[in-house]
Amino acid sequence: MGDLFKAIPVAALMGSQAEAQELPAMAPEMVKAAGPVPREAPKDSRLGFESIGASKDDAISVPPGHGVSVVIKWGDPLFANSPAFSPLNQSGAAQATQFGYNNDWLDFFSLPSPEVSNPASGLLAVNHEYTNPELMFRNWTLAGQTREQTDIELNAHGLTVVEVARDRTGDWNYIAGARLNRRITAFTPMDITGPAAGSELLRTSVDPTGRRVMGTLNNCSGGKTPWGTVLSGEENFHQYFANFSAVPAGPSRANNALYGMPNTTGSYPWNRHYDRFDMAKEPNESFRFGWVVEFDPYDVNSVPKKRTALGRFRHEACTIQIAPDGRIVAYSGDDERFQFAYKFISNGRYNPFDRAANFDLLDDGTLYVAKFNADGTGEWLPMIQGRGPLTAANGFPDQATVLINSRGAAARLGATPMDRPEDMEVNPVNGKVYLALTNNTSRTDRDIDKANPRSNNRFGHIIELTEDNGDHSALRFFWEIFILCGDGKNRAHGTFFAGYDPSQVSALANPDNIAFDSKGNLWIATDGQPNTLGINDGIYAVATDGTERGNVKQLFSGVVGAEAASLVFNPDDSALFITIQHPGEGGRWTDNPADLTSRFPDGAAPNKPAVVAIRKVSGNPVVGS
Ligand code: FEO
Ligand code: CA
Ligand code: CA
Repeated sequence: MGDLFKAIPVAALMGSQAEAQELPAMAPEMVKAAGPVPREAPKDSRLGFESIGASKDDAISVPPGHGVSVVIKWGDPLFANSPAFSPLNQSGAAQATQFGYNNDWLDFFSLPSPEVSNPASGLLAVNHEYTNPELMFRNWTLAGQTREQTDIELNAHGLTVVEVARDRTGDWNYIAGARLNRRITAFTPMDITGPAAGSELLRTSVDPTGRRVMGTLNNCSGGKTPWGTVLSGEENFHQYFANFSAVPAGPSRANNALYGMPNTTGSYPWNRHYDRFDMAKEPNESFRFGWVVEFDPYDVNSVPKKRTALGRFRHEACTIQIAPDGRIVAYSGDDERFQFAYKFISNGRYNPFDRAANFDLLDDGTLYVAKFNADGTGEWLPMIQGRGPLTAANGFPDQATVLINSRGAAARLGATPMDRPEDMEVNPVNGKVYLALTNNTSRTDRDIDKANPRSNNRFGHIIELTEDNGDHSALRFFWEIFILCGDGKNRAHGTFFAGYDPSQVSALANPDNIAFDSKGNLWIATDGQPNTLGINDGIYAVATDGTERGNVKQLFSGVVGAEAASLVFNPDDSALFITIQHPGEGGRWTDNPADLTSRFPDGAAPNKPAVVAIRKVSGNPVVGS
């Protein structure tokens, strides 16, 4: 295994296309060759790996025959003029040119163009969801937060686009100074487009047009369009704002009532340094967040656009399908307890022959919200102003308000409140939609329903949804529970693994982001297992059809305090990219080494969120035998 973590000069492997880049290796102690293999775990030729055992160690675990390497980590310089990362001498300006913090969703975009399927080099688009100042800055205190620290945090949010390439050994490296490398931060100018653009609720003292916003925040999950653009969902945007209690009664207050805006201080003290985060001064700035952002990763000058037609909530994935008639369907969840699952259907049709003709398809169409019936059927309810209860008398005078206050509109329509809808992905083999519900400990026996059947749902579940006639633009669907998570060996957990013997599968809890390989196996990243199963978060795979349907196996275990936040395969499934987010969360970086609970990935402070790549030493697909 040791050879897998050697630094490889990329220029030697890429010829003149790449600049020389000597990359630091991951500290060897941060990787364990393999965890113990549970004796009872059955072999599965289709998934082609032996399930590892659960781990609590501050080291990545993978099965025998697999290698793992760090592709890029917080602070790595992206551009020719980027300063090297200097943990004790950080600045906002430097951070704006370096890989950001808390990498979450990521996707792979082939090079040299979106039309090719190149398994050996591409662009990774990566969300930077949030910041942990207690881990970023040594001896940080909330009371002592400086303006420079605020600027570093704002610049550590957003996204990175970075070129990556596979070297001769099969490992993946990023290429500093590559032409399409890009940072998008909380300061990047972007347009607000679609039906809500220009709404009075979106106007601020800095932007009286309601059409131009500075930056993007809390980019959690996302998606990729068939025309090769990035979709990034703004999730917990509320926590950056303060003083909602100072907003007077009226539309600015009413349309944020269901969004959890902090009455006094939020989770971040940015309002001390920037008026836009103080709702007493800028009551409408928060309406400019909570959207899906789209941009073209193949054009470093493309202006990102917030697509208001897709609604405003704590957006998670934005998964795109093309309906049989060419219309575009976008699935997205609102990650909060008792919130909803949505889909958008465009009016325009996809044009496979003219890439640019598709760029604004997500500005014009109808947003729907899901209602799950007890008999296993479901309906997509249209969110159209003037229809049903979405009237001016009920607080929805125009379509802009329906979209800005999607939560209020969806509740009025009678949508089904779910157990934290996180990712929604479509199985490329059977066409079904899978909805990951992370948990909901607030659900009681009084409000359980067939689609959310457990009170105090600590472990979460996954629903399998079949659109009528397999048409993603259908307004009727069928659904069933695929997995009720937990430890199948513990009867008290009440698990269900699609009928598979629960005593034979890996324990699994808190399904969060999910992905499919090209064979239709579901891959699951977890968020919260330290608090539910008492083990590190990890990556699991499960067949969705055949005799192995429901047989969950664990491929990967992350490090202490970290979420294995998101995952994506390259085009031939030979590499699985995983984001390690918030390693060491719960600890602090102080003068006392004992305060730091993780030293991932360098074996030293500060710990760093990072993207890692998993591959088979044989070079075969990760999913194959
Ligand atoms: Fe940022 Fe819903 O996870
Ligand atoms: Ca997540
Ligand atoms: Ca989550």
